[in-house]
Amino acid sequence: MPNAQDPQIHSLFGDISPTQSLRHEEVINIPPQDSLAQILADVQADPNCGACKGGLPLVFGIGPERAELMLIGEGPGIDDVQSEAPFQGQAGVLLTRMLAAINVARAECYICNVIKCIPPGERNFSTTEIEACRPFLLRQIWAVQPHIIIAFGALAAQTLLRSKKTISELRGQIFTLRLNEREITVVPMFNPAYLLRVAEKKREAWEDLKRVRELLRG
Ligand code: URA
Repeated sequence: MPNAQDPQIHSLFGDISPTQSLRHEEVINIPPQDSLAQILADVQADPNCGACKGGLPLVFGIGPERAELMLIGEGPGIDDVQSEAPFQGQAGVLLTRMLAAINVARAECYICNVIKCIPPGERNFSTTEIEACRPFLLRQIWAVQPHIIIAFGALAAQTLLRSKKTISELRGQIFTLRLNEREITVVPMFNPAYLLRVAEKKREAWEDLKRVRELLRG
């Protein structure tokens, strides 16, 4: 049985290269003169997102309009909705500590989520809702122009990279996201909210953080 990971096998069979799965390319439509303010206005006016009709405030994103490092989580929790900012509460405290451990100030980063609200009844997001939010997320990335994105948790990594793999499979690797002519490095990582519950995964998160530190230095 050939080993699908073996580069020689791939070149023999002429199919996908072993690194192809570490790259996701997409052509996106960006409205002329797009801006974070415009994207927020468009999210608020979007008729396709049923979840945001729950009446709770949106959690759009926070941070500088341009940032080298962008942090993308899954969706806001109740603490985040109350503060109208992502990663508040205990998950936010841990996130700030994780960043400090690699000498990054949270205020330097642009932080947002795939999903901008809590759906009614705090149910899970449907695929339709995730797909409705995704173009806004891609526009946010385009506007902020990060060189590196940390995708926190399965939903963030899968949504960005169009992958069905678990976060345990995706983490530990570096991906390239090509949006139009721009390339961005994506580092999937366990979500701080998950690390609060499963402390033994912090060791792997630390390995991923060190990778981010190297990328920022490079
Ligand atoms: N808070 C957020 O804003 N996003 C997450 O993914 C988890 C907690």
